Amino acid sequence: MIAVTKSYLPNKEKLFRYIDQIYASCQLTNNGPLVQALEEKLAKHLEVRNLILVANGTLALQVVYKAMNLQGSVVTTPFSFPATTSSLVWEFIKPIFADIDQRSWNINPKEIEKLIQPNTSAIVATHIFSNPCEVEAIQKIAEHYHLKVIYDGAHTFGVRYQGESVLKWGDATTLSFHATKLFHTVEGGAIITNDDALAEKIRLMINFGIAGPEKIIDLGINAKLNEFQAAIGLCILDEINHINQERKKVWHCYYEELKNTCIFQMRNEFSTNNYSYFPILFENENKMKEIQKKLNDQSIFPRRYFYPSLDELPYIKQERKMMIARDVASRVLCLPLYPGLALDVIKEISHMIKNEYVLAY
Ligand SMILES: Cc1ncc(COP(=O)(O)O)c(C=O)c1O
Repeated sequence: MIAVTKSYLPNKEKLFRYIDQIYASCQLTNNGPLVQALEEKLAKHLEVRNLILVANGTLALQVVYKAMNLQGSVVTTPFSFPATTSSLVWEFIKPIFADIDQRSWNINPKEIEKLIQPNTSAIVATHIFSNPCEVEAIQKIAEHYHLKVIYDGAHTFGVRYQGESVLKWGDATTLSFHATKLFHTVEGGAIITNDDALAEKIRLMINFGIAGPEKIIDLGINAKLNEFQAAIGLCILDEINHINQERKKVWHCYYEELKNTCIFQMRNEFSTNNYSYFPILFENENKMKEIQKKLNDQSIFPRRYFYPSLDELPYIKQERKMMIARDVASRVLCLPLYPGLALDVIKEISHMIKNEYVLAY
């Protein structure tokens, strides 16, 4: 069976050496030495000022909203993983969707401004499939209306924009280190911010607001990463160059096979690609479903990332329909992409897609 992704497992001997360390110290969690080491290495690798490891990418979003005291409404994207929206609703913040750009599939800054209300406190945007949003335009709107900007950067590990980490943009960016991601800690995530005071607040918040043995100084929750997860992360980070090269190889093989046939997301020309996804857009939903079924019949399982459009979630009460997001969400399929995926499998998948495309004309 070929799934859309396959979790990367690092060198076992190295992992066991870290596990020996955990057995020796008996410290399993609570900001242990491996979590601290991983934070330091990741901040250096990603070239960011403050990086706080957390239990997952969804809690990362929730903790950021709380730390920033976001209230009222937030203008956000309808084309993302459900967590981008559910985290807001969970924190009693109203998501107001602004439709996406037809080509980049990111929130369209031109749509944001007209949706800002007196109680709007922030813009929450996703760099979808690692493609950076129009960060300058979003920043300008945020400054004009005094709004916070949070980027859901779950897909954006290692992406650079204009020669610098894209994670530096906004008041904060969140990452997901879920097992399916290109860098992972089984479950996990991180919050990135240039704001030292915010970073300090977040560090307290993810540990119940505890500042010392008998000192609780703020409202908090448990969003900590543990030592075993950090051990996996440290091992994978050591292999990140190999992972990146493998992903690049797979991505380019698909690209060469499909470039004259398929429609792709238009990527920001000033940004690098981390090759985390290979999404293709079909001419209509039926065609996409036909090809999906043909691939499934061969035990190949691409995924409909991200369907449905988030304005269609059952707990959303918004009358305005996000027509572009609904249309894109109905026609996109992400092809299997992970280190070690054999080139002949990629060619076979591509040929099946090309055959269907030919039949369509
Ligand atoms: C865009 C986006 N945001 C948030 C998340 C949630 O991350 P996690 O699964 O680590 O909670 C994901 C996970 O896939 C995602 O793709």
